Amino acid sequence: MKFEILKFEIIFMDKPTVILGIESSCDDTSAAVLQNNRVLSNVIASQAVHESYGGVVPELASRAHQLNIVPVVSEALKRAGVEKHEVDAIAFTRGPGLLGSLMVGTSFAKGLAMSLDVPLIDVNHLQAHVLTCFIDLPGQETRPPKFPYLCLLASGGNSQLIVVKAYNDMEIIGQTIDDAAGEAFDKCAKVMGLPYPGGPHVNRFANEGNPKAFNFSKPNIEGYNYSFSGLKTSFLYTLRDELKNNPNFIEERKPDLCASLQATIVEILMKKLDKAVKNTGLKEIVLSGGVSANSGLRNAVSEYAEKNNCYAYLPPFSLTTDNAAMIAMTGYFKYLDKDFCDISLPPFTRVDI
Ligand code: KG4
Repeated sequence: MKFEILKFEIIFMDKPTVILGIESSCDDTSAAVLQNNRVLSNVIASQAVHESYGGVVPELASRAHQLNIVPVVSEALKRAGVEKHEVDAIAFTRGPGLLGSLMVGTSFAKGLAMSLDVPLIDVNHLQAHVLTCFIDLPGQETRPPKFPYLCLLASGGNSQLIVVKAYNDMEIIGQTIDDAAGEAFDKCAKVMGLPYPGGPHVNRFANEGNPKAFNFSKPNIEGYNYSFSGLKTSFLYTLRDELKNNPNFIEERKPDLCASLQATIVEILMKKLDKAVKNTGLKEIVLSGGVSANSGLRNAVSEYAEKNNCYAYLPPFSLTTDNAAMIAMTGYFKYLDKDFCDISLPPFTRVDI
């Protein structure tokens, strides 16, 4: 499958359009104001309540969203220096995500759009991650990719390889058949006693460890699909066996365990990315999703791009995890197409791009 370079280009409007984005798909309540593709504000309230449970508790997440949504939206408007009546449209995450969490953002967006009498735009959270690369963050200008590009979306809920032909034309060519990359980081971190979410902690310890210290199993899956469940089991069994001989094994070898785990996850992700670049002929690579904050993965993608004459877009750290700026960005593209939604549209929990 080879892809022609398309003529599709994004034309930003001369008239500044102000989009308020609202994100509440999981455990981050976020609101952002964008003027065209430029971020005026991007406020994120994370929920510490889940830390002691080692994962997101859906009921607690929706309650925290209810508490956070009004102050977060007010703060985003205030930081942007934008009055409510200056907002041209409201974009919200319709799904996928946790139903209770989505209901809060969806209901709030609907109510606000009705009261301000502005268009409402529903956004697919995964599509928004893929389009993060078009966001202009003041002081962090990077060239956006050219269509068509290849996106590696690696987050806590997804690991996908996507061919992006236009902002509204995406094809998933590979995805995980079991756990996501972020989930593998988090679950292995949990068995080492690290706090949730474990990905950033593993990354921190990995910086001091030897990536070749341990050999964990790697999947052998057809095509572009991913699998991380075998690695998780092999990690768990290594700990179980070593702890029998040395009860302090985890504490003594944490940096090496983290470095080897990270190196294995990165290798799994890169193997399929390489295959996709070679088979599709695409030379523009975009990294997105929470795991794109991982320094091992960022280095691997940069080095790969340099060696293989590709362009790599690595998102700024503030845009790697769930944020409303990407929701407003996608909302802006849909606004240009007048692709608005009806107030009766319900959220959805699971769906592909
Ligand atoms: O995209 P995201 O904020 O949420 C969704 O899953 O939608 O991604 C969160 C995931 C978590 O699994 C977290 O552990 C992982 O991203 N993550 C990292 C790093 N920062 C966040 N994984 C590895 N290294 C990091 N530095």
